[in-house]
Amino acid sequence: MRANRVACLIVAAGAMLGAAGAGAGQWRDGAQVYEKVCAHCHEANVGPVLKGRQLPVVYIERVVRHGNRAMPSFRPSEIDDAALADVARLLAASAPLGKE
Ligand code: HEC
Repeated sequence: MRANRVACLIVAAGAMLGAAGAGAGQWRDGAQVYEKVCAHCHEANVGPVLKGRQLPVVYIERVVRHGNRAMPSFRPSEIDDAALADVARLLAASAPLGKE
């Protein structure tokens, strides 16, 4: 059951990336990556809230590149290094949800 849910989430993430027309250099900035990809899970009670937790930039980058249990991994062809660095910096420095 849990495995099915995870597979479903990964498919959903792929569909989101497809819809955004992603590819290296396709992202305007980290805010757009967050809004088009991360927020679908991380502001929807699928994944834990990321904002306002001072999560370290390197930790965020690592989780996005390698995945972690139910968190899917994203390749550089999906979210390029510059866009990933930007979204990680943005989240590390973000205010808690509802206090922006
Ligand atoms: C398909 C849903 C989904 C998408 C899209 C997604 N995540 Fe996640 N993420 C998760 C889930 C679920 C977890 C919790 C994983 C676990 O612990 O099993 C998670 C965990 C994380 C964690 C660890 C949080 C912690 O409390 O330690 C980070 C950091 C993270 N995600 C960053 C991101 C970023 C940045 C993006 C956008 C590039 C993103 N995620 C996109 C589902 C998603």
